[in-house]
Amino acid sequence: MSLKSFLRKHLKIIVTIAVTIVAILCRKYISYFSLIDEVKVENKSVPIFSPDQLKKYNGIDESNLYLAVMGVIFDVTQSEKHYGKGAPYNYFVGKDGSRGFVTGKFKDESEEKDHILDLTCNELLTMLDWRKTFREKYPAVGLLAGRYYDKYGKDTNYLKVLKERVQKCKEDKDRAKKEEAIYPPCNISWSEDEGSKVWCTKSSGGVIRNWVGVPRQLFTPGDEKPRCVCIQLDKGNSSQLKKYDGCPDTSEECLVQDT
Ligand code: HEM
Repeated sequence: MSLKSFLRKHLKIIVTIAVTIVAILCRKYISYFSLIDEVKVENKSVPIFSPDQLKKYNGIDESNLYLAVMGVIFDVTQSEKHYGKGAPYNYFVGKDGSRGFVTGKFKDESEEKDHILDLTCNELLTMLDWRKTFREKYPAVGLLAGRYYDKYGKDTNYLKVLKERVQKCKEDKDRAKKEEAIYPPCNISWSEDEGSKVWCTKSSGGVIRNWVGVPRQLFTPGDEKPRCVCIQLDKGNSSQLKKYDGCPDTSEECLVQDT
């Protein structure tokens, strides 16, 4: 078969393939330029969005639904029931509303809506849990130039400070967990007849162990009030520990005036 007759015979197929290839290339080209700022992008594989660009991904101006969590943009189009128009979490769409994940304030349109550095350690760790949820469930499609990343996609000073703070929070949490294994919390109850009572069991404070222990007050520097912990008599000789007034040294439960 000559080339001419081959082309004539398969013209339809050849045209279809050519049109498909051009369409794919156009799509890639168009989406590339509608996503990326006209800036020098250090890592070309990560599109950088300006706040105004992100705003458009609200399911109306652009059909997809995008939101940013701590500067990372996720495509949440698959969860229209959560984020679409009129849905309970539509507030988060088209912006970085990180603070709202902790405060539950879904009307904050101020400059502070992505500010989280002033939150407590627990709140910051909640924030990280949210980010993990998004990372696992939704595709990340870019970075938002602003508080967390600059227009080249590099960490801002704010993000650097945040990372250090989070690291310290994690260390504090680990330390508290280790301390809890040595000094597990007591059980605490109150009744009209007895008043406040603290006591230890092999599972008090949710710490399962093979010893019961006796209640003591633990004074931790920085804490306003002491807290009741269970200690092993032969190991609890820290200066931060104090007996409960009127409670025998070896008693597993104590009646106390004020807990
Ligand atoms: C600080 C307050 C809250 C925040 C920031 C928040 C945030 C969210 C977000 C972002 C989602 C969607 C998660 C995803 O994309 O998979 C979600 C889902 C959901 N939320 Fe909330 N929420 C809050 C409070 C509440 C409360 C008080 C309730 C119940 C009364 C609730 C019930 C639900 C339910 C039922 C879902 C759907 C779960 C699913 O279908 O997978 N939320 N929440």
